[in-house]
Amino acid sequence: MNISYLPPLTLYIHFPWCVQKCPYCDFNSHGLQKKADGHKTNVSYPEDEYIDALLKDLEEELPAVWGRSISAIFIGGGTPSLMSAENMERLLSGVRARLPFLSDIEITMEANPGTVEADKFSGFYQAGVNRISIGVQSFDNQFLKTLGRIHNEDEATKAFHIARNAGFNNINLDLMYALPNQSIKQAMQDLTKAIELKPEHLSWYQLTLEPNTAFHHSPPKNMADDDRVADISERGLAILKESNYQRYEVSAFSQKGKNNCWHNTNYWQFGDYIGIGAGAHGKITRADTQTITRTSKRRNPKDYLNSELTFIDKSYSLSAVQMPFEFMLNALRLVDGVEASSFYERTGIINHHIENSLNKCIDRGLIVADKDKIQTTEFGYQYLNEVLSEFSDEHFSHLNNNNKIEIKEII
Ligand SMILES: C[S@@+](CC[C@H](N)C(=O)[O-])C[C@H]1O[C@@H](n2cnc3c(N)ncnc32)[C@H](O)[C@@H]1O
Ligand code: SF4
Repeated sequence: MNISYLPPLTLYIHFPWCVQKCPYCDFNSHGLQKKADGHKTNVSYPEDEYIDALLKDLEEELPAVWGRSISAIFIGGGTPSLMSAENMERLLSGVRARLPFLSDIEITMEANPGTVEADKFSGFYQAGVNRISIGVQSFDNQFLKTLGRIHNEDEATKAFHIARNAGFNNINLDLMYALPNQSIKQAMQDLTKAIELKPEHLSWYQLTLEPNTAFHHSPPKNMADDDRVADISERGLAILKESNYQRYEVSAFSQKGKNNCWHNTNYWQFGDYIGIGAGAHGKITRADTQTITRTSKRRNPKDYLNSELTFIDKSYSLSAVQMPFEFMLNALRLVDGVEASSFYERTGIINHHIENSLNKCIDRGLIVADKDKIQTTEFGYQYLNEVLSEFSDEHFSHLNNNNKIEIKEII
């Protein structure tokens, strides 16, 4: 391996609490409402202590990213909009004091419509958050109930307007489709309502049954079959296109002329990101140790906050054999593909080593690739797992880690 450039760097901050756990969600999030004898009670969580821990966690990451600036922060969860505006200010100024920000930094915070208050949102904006991602999921009360959401349609719309009025000119709405019992017409109504609000960005996810969720243990009746999923997807993609939303990743759409989510794009392009907070993942390319290392932090907030334990749960360096799959896993999800040169720049492996795999995919019409670009075809997009299997470890056992990585430029 011989990496010549360090990729852009972003920061992911995880906030692990939600008002209530949604039955479909496998994110590292812990509900604060407990039900006993038919009553709901709210459990408190140690917000001040958690902010202190996040900043300490960041400090421990600094030696690995010395001299580098960050171009995005993504505060995800969980429900970070539960946080007080004062703590958001403390968190972001604490980060700013420890890490240089690029001048056009994107700072996203995820918000649940059931937790959106005008004063607090103005406070988030004042604190430096400049992009809001609102978890709407659906505008239909019947589906919101099925999904175990704490908000209704009115609150979803209100949350959008509160964010706009607070000053946010970069808003994403998360929507899910293929909900239990959802007709094509109902799915299109959801999409149309979202588009009418004119958000700069839409994330449109197919509902999936994830292991370790309540929906997985007892699946809801009438989940959409493959045909209905395909019909909803086809019609929805057409509506988004007609409405000037450009698809740039499997589930991500940005309004024409507006920005894609830079934090996620960097992640998909095999860029670097520091991950702080319970269960957060990070990937860092290092000049001194000549390694690309993945780390994950302790998932359980109690363990994460236990000062007798380390923040890091797992940490390992990628071997050359793993690199093609690691790179392609997300790069092939990008509609416009990636620059061919970025494979070498990000992995330190010359493109010659993936030519065989690329050619097999090209012959089957799954990928187009030349000296400038590597891109999944529309056909390949439907068979992403098959495309990826061409880049799995077993095809690259001849690669080894002996070659040194040499860093020429720090971005
Ligand atoms: C971490 S949540 C973000 C925001 C916030 N916690 C909320 O739900 O309002 C990220 C998004 O992932 C999507 N998501 C979560 N679980 C999903 C699943 N099983 N299938 C499809 N999308 C899912 C939802 O649209 C959700 O808004
Ligand atoms: S509010 Fe968001 S993060 Fe929390 S459980 Fe629901 S989907 Fe998951």
